[in-house]
Formats: sequence, C-alpha cells, structure tokens
Amino acid sequence: MKLHKAILAAAVLVPAGALAADTAMTAFVDSLLAQMTLDEKIGQLHLPVGGDIVTGDIMENTIGADIAAGRIGGVFNMKGCNQIRDYQRMAVENSRLGIPLIFGMDVIHGYETVFPIPLALSCSWDMDAIEQSARVAAAEASAAGICWTFSPMVDISREPRWGRVAEGSGEDPYLGARIAEAMVRGYQGDSLRNNDEIMACVKHFALYGAPEGGRDYNTVDMSRQRMFNEYFAPYKAAADAGAGSFMTSFNVVDGIPATGNRWLFTDVLRDRWNWDGFVVTDYGAITEMMVHGLGGPADVSRMALDAGVDMDMAGQMYLNVLKGLVEQGKVTEEQIDTACRRILEAKYRLGLFDDPYKYINPAREASEIYTDSNRAVARRIVPETFVLLKNEGNLLPLAKTGTIALIGPMADAANNMQGMWSVARTAADRSVRQAMTDALGTNAQLLYAKGANVYGDAVVEAGVTWGGHDIRDPRSADELLAEALDVARRADVIVAALGEASESSGESASRAHLRLPDVQQRLLEELVALGKPLVLLNFSGRPTVMVYEQEHVPAIMNVWFGGTEAADAIADVVFGAEAPSGKLTMTFPRSEGQIPVYYNHLPTGRPRSDGPAPFEKFRSNYLDEQVTPLYPFGYGLTYTTFAYGTPQLSAAVTSGEPVTVSVDVTNTGNRAGNEIVQLYVRDVAASMSRPVKELKGFERIALEPGQTKTVTFTVDPAQLGFYNNDLEYVVEPGEFDVMVGPDSGNVQTLRFSLSE
Ligand code: BGC
Repeated sequence: MKLHKAILAAAVLVPAGALAADTAMTAFVDSLLAQMTLDEKIGQLHLPVGGDIVTGDIMENTIGADIAAGRIGGVFNMKGCNQIRDYQRMAVENSRLGIPLIFGMDVIHGYETVFPIPLALSCSWDMDAIEQSARVAAAEASAAGICWTFSPMVDISREPRWGRVAEGSGEDPYLGARIAEAMVRGYQGDSLRNNDEIMACVKHFALYGAPEGGRDYNTVDMSRQRMFNEYFAPYKAAADAGAGSFMTSFNVVDGIPATGNRWLFTDVLRDRWNWDGFVVTDYGAITEMMVHGLGGPADVSRMALDAGVDMDMAGQMYLNVLKGLVEQGKVTEEQIDTACRRILEAKYRLGLFDDPYKYINPAREASEIYTDSNRAVARRIVPETFVLLKNEGNLLPLAKTGTIALIGPMADAANNMQGMWSVARTAADRSVRQAMTDALGTNAQLLYAKGANVYGDAVVEAGVTWGGHDIRDPRSADELLAEALDVARRADVIVAALGEASESSGESASRAHLRLPDVQQRLLEELVALGKPLVLLNFSGRPTVMVYEQEHVPAIMNVWFGGTEAADAIADVVFGAEAPSGKLTMTFPRSEGQIPVYYNHLPTGRPRSDGPAPFEKFRSNYLDEQVTPLYPFGYGLTYTTFAYGTPQLSAAVTSGEPVTVSVDVTNTGNRAGNEIVQLYVRDVAASMSRPVKELKGFERIALEPGQTKTVTFTVDPAQLGFYNNDLEYVVEPGEFDVMVGPDSGNVQTLRFSLSE
C-alpha cells in the first residue's frame, strides 16, 4: 500500500459532517504534500490532452512515462473505461506515490445523449429541465470514466457575431445565474462522492463573451462596475453553488490576460467570493500570454501562478519552468504547495483517493449511456427550446395532408443536428426528412430537395461543416435551385430548413454577416416568390438577422441545434403533436450595425421618441436603421395565446419588506400551452445611471384552454441594489418601476417606493 493510503485510513476516522470532512481532507492533503518532491508537486499542475492515444500504446507514449514519473495531474478529452483505466492504473501502480489522475472532458450539452446547445436550453427558461440535462450528461460521462467536465460556460454575451454564444445562456445576468446554479447542481449532485456525479468547471473567467468586434479571443475592455453589475453574476452564482473548478479565459481583462490576472482569480474569485476550488487554464493559455506580449516562459508562468491559477492545460509552461523559478527564488515552494493542494483537494472531493477506479465501471458504461430514459429526458426538453418567431394565420402547426415540400441544406443533414461541442457523440443521427417521413406515414406525401449548399463557396462551407459534418452537394447552385423549385411547385406547402451548419457557431466561429448565406438567401427568395404557404425552420447557434424573413415568410421557428432528439421533436412540433414554447435569451438585431443591442441597456440623455419619424436629429438613433431590435429578449410565441390581466402590487411603499407583484394570465386560445411570465425592475433615480429594465423573476406556467393562473413574484429589496464605482453593493431608497409581461418589449408597469 502506498504511504498516503495509510494516512487516508487514519483520516477517515474523523467524524462525518461538513467541517469534519474538511478537517480530514486537510490532514490527508498535508500528509501527502509532506511526502511529495517539488517535481511531483509541479507534476500535479500539468494537464495534457490525451485524446487520440489508444490503449496499449501508453508505455511508448510520453504521457505514459510522464504519468509514471509523477509529472501529470490529469488528462483530458479522452473517454472510455478501458483507456481511462489504463491511465489510472499507470498513475496508481507505477508512480511513486500512486496519486490518481483526474480525467476531464468537454461534456458541454450532453455526452452520447446530446441535448440542445446551451443557448437553446436557456430559451426553455426551465431550470428543472436544464438541471436534468446536466444530470444525464454527468451520469453518462461518468459511466465512461470521466470525472470532470469543462462546463458550464456562463459567459454573458451581447455579441451575436461571436460564435461561442451558442455555448452560453444568452445576455441576461439574472437568468444566466439561475442556469449556472442549475448546471452545477446537475453535474455535481449533492456530494460529488457518488460515482455518477462529476466536477463542474465554470468557464471562462472572465468576460470572454465581450470580445471587440465579436471576434473570438479578441480584446475585452470594460469598467469594473459593468463587470460586477452586468457580467459577473453567473460566475458568482456557480461559485456559490459549490462548483469545484474554474477555467480561465483567453482574453485580457484590464489589459492583463485573464490567465495572469491576480485581481480576477485571487481578489475577486477567492477572497471576495470566498471560493476554494481549483483553477485550470484554458487550452494553452499560459503559453498564449507570451503572444499577448507578457514576456517569456518564466515571466508568464510566474504571472499565472501569482494570479492564483493552479493547473496548466495543454501547455508545458508550469512543468518546464516552475522548478527553475523556485530555485531562483522567484516563486516560493509554498505557492506550488498551494496550487498542488487545491488539485489534490479536488481529487479528494471526488473520492479518487478512496477509490481511483470509482468511475471505471464497464457494466455502467454498457448499460447507462444513451438509454431510452436519458433520451426521453432530452426529447421532453427540445420543444421547450424552439422559439416560434412568427406564425401568421396560424400556419403552424401543419395538417398531415396533401403534399409537403421539405427543402434546404438542413433538411436531410443528420450529421448537423447536434450542434457544436458534441464531441463524445458516436451513434447515428436522424434528419428532419427521416423524422417527417415517419411522422406523416401514409397521411401525406413528403417531397424533398436540398435547394442549396450552406454557402455558395466551398471553402467557406468547409469552415462550418468540418469534423464529420460535411454535407456539401457537388452540383451547381443553379442546379440545386432548379430542382428545389420544381419540387416546391408540386407541393401545397413548403417547409424550408435553412440557416447555419453545426460548426457555424462555437469556438473560433465568429461571423461578420448574420443573414442567411448567399445561396440560401436566393433559395428563400425564390420560394417566397412561389406564393405558397411557407414555414421557415431556422437552424442557428446564435441570433441571426432575419428582417427579410420577418417581412416575407409567414411562419418562422428558430430550432437552434437540438441534439440527439431534435429531428423527431421538429416533426412533432411542425405537425402539432407538441407546441414550441421557448423564449429568446438573446436579442435578435435588425442588422449587424446595431450590435451590441440588448434589452437591459442604460438610458441615454437623448432617447428618441416612440413616434413614427424614421430619424430624429440630435437624438440617439440611426439615420438608416431603427433603434429597436427585430425580436426582443424574452420574446417567443406558441400555438395558443395568452392575455395578461392588470398586475397588482402588495404595497406602494415599502420599508425594507419584500414587495409582491401578481398578475393573472389566461390561455385565450383553444389548445393547452406554456407561457413564460417575466418580471423586470427599474431603479428610477439612483446615484448611478441604471438600466431601463432588468429581469428579476420569471415563471414557466402551463395553462389549459380558458384557464387562468395568478403568477406572484416576490421582489426582495436586496434584489434592487447595484455595485457602485467602489464595487460596493448598495440598495438605495427611492422609486422603482416593476414591470410584468410576456417579453422585455411588452410589459405593464407599476411603481413603488423603497423607504429608508
Ligand atoms: C476552449 C475551452 C475548452 C478547452 C478544452 C478550449 O479551446 O476554449 O472551452 O474547454 O479548449 O477542450
């Protein structure tokens, strides 16, 4: 038995209970650290990528040798019990102290059972469903040997040009914070000690969602009060929910790369928020600090360690330079001990010292992945993520009769249904065409034509369909179009499945143009010209610009990328077995020139009027574009309609007591439906300019036809504050507007006063 095993046996005699468990952990880690050489401690800070190394080759591979030498703390993006067991055995049996490895992976929106992309999930506003999606992901990933996921990504973003909005929860800090908590709970469960609970890694700290020009990895610069008021809430919520780890972001914050930013990781995350997990860099981010212009390997490694960054992902900076820095007295061994301690504590919390093979269970791997029940969880959520943007004359749902033409590059693109970051997925997927064919049976005829590639230019298309998502048709644009028009002419109704491909969003997938790509725009215009009933299913990983569509297409539904169950959910929603019930969590602009356009903006001193004038001189508006977005935050229709009564306030004046706001919501249509009722607040006069509205509550309700429900929100005075320029959270007495409605652009307002 290894030395530390003996210590563990003694440590577990400490009585149970949170504090006692911490004491036991500290005692255990103290003893282990006391036995470790400096090299072994530095080894724990090293996280290489292990993706393509196959079982059996480990002995020849440098990772294998490094594990045996105690030069590795964990490995990431590798899956499967066999492979992971080999690595773990190497660490436990061949390294001097037998310290187990931690195995990480990007399990972003499901493992083998793929859920809708995170931006889509956020549009459900369904916290239970989102938590369950993380729970299923954790259960499946852990059955394949993984104990740590690089999720949730909680970066607030107002930048639809930035492709990584697909990975987050949109633009709102309040909603983002609730989702962050739900995801952490889903992954980590109650204790992290069970073998189906995995450690969350909150990313990317911080502000990654605000890159200049929407270009990935680009500079971020904002005031600290804005960070605290508008961007930090989800990170803090995830920290408070007990997330075990955080990841750095690639961008600079206050001119310093986040990965070397001591203010972020030590002053804010650890000291101010009192969080005690471990921090891993993003991929090679310490190395990239050299490119940012922060010096050589020694400079950047020292800076990162000083900042409070514990583990170096996919770089060899810490591994190669830290020992020399200790010898030169530029970093202390205590600093290395601190970083190493945090990583050992994570392994302890995961129970890996009790059982390094805790997550290696081939029986679970064979029976608990991609199960019917997991797929059923995913299937239930998908329609909640679809956002119906327009439905003129109740064109949707379609009747299962006559001839239906299904047209577009996404119509028969099974391998594009998952969306970005579905790296663990291996099973075959279904396309909308297959699902609609099955849903229709013999009731109606389904005709199909591709109509267009994703882009006219093959090189551009290759950028958005790489990694197994290639769907290019070699025929010319004219040939594809002619075939589609021929098919469409023979149909009673057209369903167009257009938009982005799987990899049009995600990492390094920024777009300067957010309209439908060239050939698809032409296809859509030709379909519109036929004058037939036309439904647009818009696939996207971000808000796109849909002004033409809004003007010319009678029914538009954003279906994002819905994962494993997307195709069948689309068919069921199109034909009315289910209804779409999502609402936007990011504003859809009218044009790229409006970006950033978001609902919770500050008032200007010269707002333009609501009047019909296209342009008002010396007002804050555009000569050639409206100020308002095309679709506001919170917006979304369904197959029934709702009427809101007049909201009621519990008190017009309050002295520190919570205020309640109630509103009756009635289903005025003739089918059951779900509504997401939203509550916004505005601080009317404060010591700083405050947003025109901020989300402070929401509730998803189900209503039968004719049914009315009273929705009651409680607004606690503590929710009415903000961070001032000294970064103190202050609640200032005075008047507040409270607004209730179906979306941020459609609210009824009441006013109350908060007295001293
Ligand atoms: C991404 C991270 C991801 C990491 C590991 C990076 O490029 O920014 O979000 O977790 O790679 O795959």
